[in-house]
Amino acid sequence: MDRFENAADGGDARREMSPSDPAASAAVFLEGDARADTTVMTREVVMEYRMGMAVIRALDGIDLTIPTGEYLSIMGPSGSGKTTLFNVIGGLAKPTAGSVFIDEIDVAQLDAGELAWLRCRKIGYIFQSYNIVKVMTALENVTLPMLFAGVPPDEARDRGADILRRVGLADRLLHTPRELSGGQQQRVAIARAFANRPAIILADEPTANLDLRTGEEIIHLMKEMNREQGVTVICSTHDHKMLDISDRIVWMKDGRIDKLARREDVAIEVSHMAEK
Ligand SMILES: Nc1ncnc2c1ncn2[C@@H]1O[C@H](COP(=O)(O)OP(=O)(O)OP(=O)(O)O)[C@@H](O)[C@H]1O
Ligand SMILES: [Mg+2]
Repeated sequence: MDRFENAADGGDARREMSPSDPAASAAVFLEGDARADTTVMTREVVMEYRMGMAVIRALDGIDLTIPTGEYLSIMGPSGSGKTTLFNVIGGLAKPTAGSVFIDEIDVAQLDAGELAWLRCRKIGYIFQSYNIVKVMTALENVTLPMLFAGVPPDEARDRGADILRRVGLADRLLHTPRELSGGQQQRVAIARAFANRPAIILADEPTANLDLRTGEEIIHLMKEMNREQGVTVICSTHDHKMLDISDRIVWMKDGRIDKLARREDVAIEVSHMAEK
């Protein structure tokens, strides 16, 4: 799948939807795309939360370079900063210091329209708690981001049904979340994340609420999408099975990168862990 083509095919749609000049929003990234072979880069990212007099340093100088098409897993104990890092990379939170670059564009420099475009078109989000709309059917949940991006309703419906088929939910299009199992809801969330053919998928513990087998299916689904569509996947997890399909693994500790390794180098460690 070609990212340039995707950005280009939504041009008219964005012109209708975005609050600022959408052509310019897209152009910022198109220029970046043409030059860059790096999707995500963080430089000295610090995130502090103030709680009364106390300051919590959730991220303490994160330097990461994530090449296009990589599958990166982020591990680390509870409170180590994984979700905070996702929010910062995904443009959902602004770091206290440091910079995040998406295709060489400094996210902090984007105006509201460009940021909205980035979140809508460039990034797909998957959360631990699915976060799909309870009163909407699976199909409506998946078509919603396409409608936001200005895709005509008929086309959005067709594409939505296609993606849902792709994640194994062809016979659940009209079910609402309460009529779906946890694993099925997460499949809807994955389908939604992929709806606008993003360049980057940010998945924050996508298997945390699922049983082992369903979790495994979800992981393999994300890996397949990563391989087939060349999407960069950044996925936080406590699940050692995920290490096996990752290109690289980052371990976080106290808001810092404790260790960064290629899968080949941790294969032995993982098999030891699996044995225990
Ligand atoms: N909005 C917030 N306000 C204040 N402190 C916060 C906020 N969000 C996170 N923190 C603190 O920042 C630190 C990192 O939190 P974060 O949610 O990023 O950890 P995590 O690695 O995702 O943990 P988990 O594995 O439990 O999801 C924690 O100490 C947390 O208490
Ligand atoms: Mg978290």
